[in-house]
Amino acid sequence: MKKITIAIDGHSSCGKSTMAKDLAREVGYVYVDTGAMYRSVTLFALRNGLFTGDGINEEELRHRMPEINISFKFNPETGRPDTYLNGELVENDIRTMEVSSRVSPIATLGFVREAMVAQQQQMGKDKGVVMDGRDIGTTVFPHAELKIYVTASAEVRAQRRYDELKAKGMDADYDEILKNVQERDYIDSHREVSPLRKADDAIELDNSHMTIAEQKQWLLDRFNETVNKD
Ligand code: DC
Repeated sequence: MKKITIAIDGHSSCGKSTMAKDLAREVGYVYVDTGAMYRSVTLFALRNGLFTGDGINEEELRHRMPEINISFKFNPETGRPDTYLNGELVENDIRTMEVSSRVSPIATLGFVREAMVAQQQQMGKDKGVVMDGRDIGTTVFPHAELKIYVTASAEVRAQRRYDELKAKGMDADYDEILKNVQERDYIDSHREVSPLRKADDAIELDNSHMTIAEQKQWLLDRFNETVNKD
């Protein structure tokens, strides 16, 4: 069967990574969470004191970009890939509120995006990849055979992230999360470089009222339609 590239874009916490991971596992494709890559750069910046009050020491970060090596390793226990920053498992460290509230400004920096996009294109060069993010169907793989644009209301997404953090035994405050989701929506869709937008040829899915099983089936149907075309 021919291998294709699947690009899944949408706002934060809209459930796209769950859908993307499930599909990748089902069809034996590689899954790449590009948000985890921007989060890893943010963690690196935090750990190295590159945030200055409300700003970022851009010159220093630009200079240190070659020191940032991000990789993914499949975790047989969870059935999903874990994120590594310079060889260290950072899957939980990159999901904290501290990182969540600092990642959008990092993701607006042109030199950070250039480095991440180049790595993502490399990871997907042989196809057979499901990649989720904000600019996958528009910038990273504009010729992807299947593009999905996922939406859900900010309240539904905040509740999902709250449940996710609680399930992991982490601290969570719904109002704080909702505010963070809304702020990130704004920055992600208004930034100059690769803002979040639906690619013209993407299929839109509002999953506010769908169960995970329904979303999974919906995506599998779109996958089968695409690989069985012509
Ligand atoms: O999907 P996420 O919430 O883990 O993404 C974290 C941040 O990274 C989010 O604020 C937007 C940014 N991001 C991006 O700009 N481009 C991508 N391809 C993926 C994520």
